[in-house]
Amino acid sequence: MKTFLEQVKKRLKAAAVSTFGDELNDFEPVIDAASNPAFGDYQTNIAMVLASKVAQPPRTVAQKLIAAVDLSDWCQTPEVAGPGFINLRLKKEYLESLLDSIKDDTRIGIPLASPASKIVIDMSSPNIAKEMHVGHLRSTIIGDALARTFSFLGHDVLKINHVGDWGTQFGMLIAHLKDACPSALSEPDKVNLGDLVEFYKEARKNFDASEEFQNSSRQEVVALQSGNPESIQAWQLICNQSRKAFQEIYSLLDVPDLIERGESFYNSMLPDVVSDLKSCGLLVEDQGAQCVFLDGFLNEQGEPLPFIVKKRDGGFNYATTDLAGIRHRVKEDHADELIYVVGAGQSAHFAQLQQVARKAGWLPEHVKMGHVPFGSVLGEGGKKLQTRSGETVRLKDLLDEAVASARAELEGRLKDEQRSESEEFISQVAQAVGIAAVKYADLSLNRITNYIFSFKKMLSLQGNTAPYMMYAYVRVQGISRKGGIDFTKLDNSECLKLSKDAEVTLAKCLLKFDEVIDSVVQDLMPNRICEYLFQLSQVFNQFYENCPVLNADEPARTSRLLLCDLTARTLKVGLSLLGIPLVERM
Ligand code: ARG
Repeated sequence: MKTFLEQVKKRLKAAAVSTFGDELNDFEPVIDAASNPAFGDYQTNIAMVLASKVAQPPRTVAQKLIAAVDLSDWCQTPEVAGPGFINLRLKKEYLESLLDSIKDDTRIGIPLASPASKIVIDMSSPNIAKEMHVGHLRSTIIGDALARTFSFLGHDVLKINHVGDWGTQFGMLIAHLKDACPSALSEPDKVNLGDLVEFYKEARKNFDASEEFQNSSRQEVVALQSGNPESIQAWQLICNQSRKAFQEIYSLLDVPDLIERGESFYNSMLPDVVSDLKSCGLLVEDQGAQCVFLDGFLNEQGEPLPFIVKKRDGGFNYATTDLAGIRHRVKEDHADELIYVVGAGQSAHFAQLQQVARKAGWLPEHVKMGHVPFGSVLGEGGKKLQTRSGETVRLKDLLDEAVASARAELEGRLKDEQRSESEEFISQVAQAVGIAAVKYADLSLNRITNYIFSFKKMLSLQGNTAPYMMYAYVRVQGISRKGGIDFTKLDNSECLKLSKDAEVTLAKCLLKFDEVIDSVVQDLMPNRICEYLFQLSQVFNQFYENCPVLNADEPARTSRLLLCDLTARTLKVGLSLLGIPLVERM
């Protein structure tokens, strides 16, 4: 209904200007969805806002506006309510014509963005040789949903994996590699470092236990930083091993096209970042470190919080790399918008980063930058998510367990329903549902809040869950299967007629999808899509309970079949934006 809302605003504004004078030319009316169907479909507070400007009571302003505006092609006669709200109720004929105009459109009426932008999304970004934890899972899933939504709108999206692949910890890892697998460098094709997290722990243990090992680790850091070929080779071996483990997760989650540009990618650009900051006069030396200080950033003790770009020992920092990243994304990628999907714990870092980049002139005003923060995933009782033995939960194990739980649920259901299905069907559905459940549970919540991870809740067929949504789609598809209907071959010209209330309600919900996508783009909140799809499937259920479809007489039958088809297609597009797979049966 986006176009409708824009048109109504235009007419309301014109009516305001013609009634009250040209001084209202800069004024923008606001229209909201009505909070209660009793108030119609949309509501505007325009009269209350104008009342003080034109020095007349709000209800009088509302009456005058209604008399001056013609919305009769779209709405029933507007009503004044309460202190001066104007309520709008859509006409059935208008809804029918709108549905008619989208029913043959593969994009179901969602226009492409114009102009299209280049959007760089920094997401996932785990650290080499360390555990990829649930925080990285959230970043991956949320980032991917945003990427899919922007791509659907026609934007050019670049998904960057800013992996932590550089730093002093590599000295220790390389030293351990040389100790534990002496043949690694001469026969790199044959090495398998196994589980790198274990490898990291062993390296750490040696480091803490032996001074000699500490010395060789330090030498390795120096060798690596100075580009010693052997150290670089060892570093690459370690990175490759991690990469394989990460890739396994991305394939399971169906997160494609993630471009790895780790921290090391920016190494050669770091000295310039620091010297350019110096020439802009932004650098201050503080206890031997090179820092930028910004107004309003304080540490816990209330002292100014430095943004350190060069440490006392001469090494560069996380912050320096991110500044180089901004420069590169703006200059080389020609980004119009930079998005960082990173946990809420790093909010101060991204706020500082943005300000420094703006001050230095590396992030021009026309390039948007946004940190998309998210809360933590917690275990039972609101504690840290851990295995029974108190270890960090591995993502691979977590996803495997989700698939196993989905399988158990499915097998139980098949037994109850006395259905028998092939092993192929069972494993396919379990895989799709298990992964979808994890993704959807994450995406359906306001990302800012923490949430408690529960397989039971996320796999439930009731409530706002992936299985519920997938099942809603299956059910709608079931109608066409049962009736032997090919939606693409329906003779559907001018057949949409909304007679019952449940049909009108469903129609309105279907036509709201564009507003929902718009709000996701504005606020970068994918949970809006989940809320909408959940609402759509509930409204559909009410329609299905109240309006016979296959047994209805024409023209209602075709009209209702079209509503079913539009619902299924909307669910499909909506779920695809979330990266949730669909199954035809489950
Ligand atoms: N590797 C970091 C971590 O695990 C996240 C990096 C986020 N991206 C960035 N450009 N700083 O916390």
